[in-house]
Amino acid sequence: MTDLGPAPDFLIDADGLRERVLELGSEIAPVYAAEPPVLVSVLKGSSVFLSDLVRALPIELEIDFMSISSYGGAQQSGVVRILKDLDTDVEGRDVLIVEDIVDTGLTLNYLRRSLGARRPRTLRCVTLLDKAARRIVPVPVEWVGFEIPDVFVLGYGLDYHGIYRNIQGLIAVNDVARLAAQPDLYVPLLWPQQPGGSPSEPSA
Ligand code: PRP
Repeated sequence: MTDLGPAPDFLIDADGLRERVLELGSEIAPVYAAEPPVLVSVLKGSSVFLSDLVRALPIELEIDFMSISSYGGAQQSGVVRILKDLDTDVEGRDVLIVEDIVDTGLTLNYLRRSLGARRPRTLRCVTLLDKAARRIVPVPVEWVGFEIPDVFVLGYGLDYHGIYRNIQGLIAVNDVARLAAQPDLYVPLLWPQQPGGSPSEPSA
């Protein structure tokens, strides 16, 4: 029998995420009641959170996307380049950065500087997850969905080698070394109908 490795644990299940996103929507909406904000989603991870968050915001709003990449090997330096910039001129607008996770803070710090230089009327950030224990650069975050411990998480937009973004809940990886050796480790557990998959279910 094939050893599929330890089953991943749900850190936050789909119901918990749904409930918190609705709460965030009701906290954020009144702040932007007067002027339609521009929500800036940072590809790719935040796209799943964004799509649920906008539907929890009963206000007029716009969406735009940025894609950025760390210069090769310089992930810890905060030096990034813009792969796709905004289509929107945000001068004088209320800008809300939508992130899936703030970890070291380097990405958000760069975004706040880059977007701040465009002279928006206001600039705020909402992140679904805050891994504050890993912070290298202190950076303001106006709304946090969940503060999480320093564990490796997957699902609801967060990936490993491009896989797992479509898990409905948020999974904590309990054997990172094993996942590194086999990036598709959890595929048969999560999606047993996949070719080569097994009928086992992940623990909920
Ligand atoms: C993740 C996440 C944030 C960034 C946070 O993106 O979406 O943008 O890392 O990390 P930091 O606080 O340490 O800078 P990632 O680079 O994994 O790209 P992805 O969203 O395309 O998966």
